[in-house]
Amino acid sequence: MHLSSHVQPMSQFEHISVRPLSGALGAEVSRVDLSEPIPDKVFAEILSAFHTHLVLFFRAQTLTRDHLKAFSRRFGPLFRQPNVEALAGDPDVVAVLKEANETGISTFGGTWHSDLSYLEAPPMGSVLYAVEVPPHGGDTIWANQYLAYEALSDGFKKMLDGLACVQVGAPHGVAHAPPADLAVSRSIRLVRGDPEADRERLHPTVRTHPETGRKALFVNSVYSLRFEDMSAEESAPLLRYLFDHATRPEFCFRFSWGRGDLAVWDNRCTQHLAVNDYDGFRRLMYRTAVAGDRPR
Ligand SMILES: [Fe+2]
Repeated sequence: MHLSSHVQPMSQFEHISVRPLSGALGAEVSRVDLSEPIPDKVFAEILSAFHTHLVLFFRAQTLTRDHLKAFSRRFGPLFRQPNVEALAGDPDVVAVLKEANETGISTFGGTWHSDLSYLEAPPMGSVLYAVEVPPHGGDTIWANQYLAYEALSDGFKKMLDGLACVQVGAPHGVAHAPPADLAVSRSIRLVRGDPEADRERLHPTVRTHPETGRKALFVNSVYSLRFEDMSAEESAPLLRYLFDHATRPEFCFRFSWGRGDLAVWDNRCTQHLAVNDYDGFRRLMYRTAVAGDRPR
């Protein structure tokens, strides 16, 4: 199958350097120190690169949580996420932590998803900053949902374009909750059994990005339950096809974290997954999220 070329080989801006990291998505931004205030003309270039590459990486930054929040706020108001406990005294920052002695458990974000997509207005973006990383492993993978949509046939696109999908906060609710004995890192205080997370919300299966105008697939295996006016059983084969299709290797980029690396990604046109392959090592990331619109 032919995928249209969508990423410039090297995009040079006046103030920043941007190096694409794969054919699918992701670019490394250099010549920026995120611990310094970012002038508007520099941020305009960062935002432009963000819309082109979907995930931006800033290597080896030395940041406090205040720096992290200040940079996140440039993208929009901070989003306080429900169902995960924030850091004590810092309600806008979540510590994504797995201790070295937490082995044989599942991790936070270990299944393909778009952050909190079941909410009426999910966060448009998320920011992750690597405080402590294992010597190997603990990568994150992102998948480009524009490409996933564009690779479908015209007939299939037409069918999906008019289809709404029910999303629920399954991991946090009661009705669709995972088995009680499914252990998740105890260092992440996930809220379980919240009836509010069971509320069904209709989102478009194909979402139009409010900034780029491009269409992206907007279903994921954690939160998408069934299509509107269809049962979960009837929807399952098509959803399963879309989950698999949306995360094909050619739509993906896998990032190996170094200490001090920061990633900011667009939840409106990507999915991601945290690879749980670092038992025996401590991994600590700080994350913030940026408020977003209701999907259209
Ligand atoms: Fe996530």
